[in-house]
Amino acid sequence: MSATLTNKIEIIKATSSKINEVDFENLSFGAVFTDHLFECDYKNGEWQNPVIKPYKPFLLDPSAKVFHYGQAIFEGMKAYKDDQNAIWLFRPDENYKRFNNSAVRMAMPEVPEVIFMDGLNQLLDLDQAWVKPGAGNSMYIRPFMIATGDGVIANPSDDYKFMIILSPAKSYYSGEVKVLIAEHFSRAANGGIGAAKAAGNYAAQFYPTTLANKQGYQQVIWTDDATHTKLEEAGTMNVFFRINDTLLTAPVSERILDGITRKSLIEMAKKEGITVDVRPVLVSELVEAAQNGSLKEIFGAGTAAVVNPIIGFSYKEVYHELPKIENSFALQLKEKLTNIQHKLSEDTFGWTV
Ligand code: COI
Repeated sequence: MSATLTNKIEIIKATSSKINEVDFENLSFGAVFTDHLFECDYKNGEWQNPVIKPYKPFLLDPSAKVFHYGQAIFEGMKAYKDDQNAIWLFRPDENYKRFNNSAVRMAMPEVPEVIFMDGLNQLLDLDQAWVKPGAGNSMYIRPFMIATGDGVIANPSDDYKFMIILSPAKSYYSGEVKVLIAEHFSRAANGGIGAAKAAGNYAAQFYPTTLANKQGYQQVIWTDDATHTKLEEAGTMNVFFRINDTLLTAPVSERILDGITRKSLIEMAKKEGITVDVRPVLVSELVEAAQNGSLKEIFGAGTAAVVNPIIGFSYKEVYHELPKIENSFALQLKEKLTNIQHKLSEDTFGWTV
């Protein structure tokens, strides 16, 4: 989308910084935010008043459509600081494209690239002291858009707010991850909003995931809504299965998010000479592979989760523990990916900006 906004962002600086109150060694994911945020409003059919200002709560009319009809989308991105103190983004163009795809699906206005990128770059520049260098450290970036127009008539809002907030991050999951394979609940259906990063997709998972948590599982692997026979994604991440030495993952679809970490891992794995098969993966073949010992690994992949090994899964009340293996694809790919992201190895893919 074209627009020329560069340098027109108003900057209102915080009078003091919270940075010294933060324990950067013990960060819970998504709990701490930097001193500033970026905001731009959509009113009367145009984006206006881009501003970077101190991070603080804001007021909305109780009838704002985001509260009633859930018109809300977001992205998850990360920034990394190298040992020269330069800040790098990982494939931000992909997040930008996906954000606007989500906007279209949710009948929201697309955000011009210059607003998204200049807002992000200038915000990161202002709060750069919050981006810590070193392996395991990153700045989690949360661009989001909500419907701010008032009135409870059920139609798309006229007004929207686009914001970017920044949260210094370490890991998403703090311990081992065991998953439950969905037998009844679904995350998405054909024709629905599963491929969009819509807030409601996450809300819909909370109840079944809470039930899984009570049984000792951190996540649910969603299966297709029609037959519950195909493995899809884990909601906070896409999933990969290693059977013998082949890496399997479901193709993206109307029901599955086009994960940026997912597609990066597929490219990296192929380059490493690993056979990658992107095709529907059946629950029955996973159970069979677990039983005959050919299932070597399951792992999740996402911006927040990075590459997260899964130690076992439960299906129809039978728990299958994964073997401990030496040459883990998950760990190998995670190391290669994070080395690229932190500029510790050459980015032959041209993904870092
Ligand atoms: C991300 O990985 O950035 C996501 O949006 C997942 C979210 C549940 C933290």
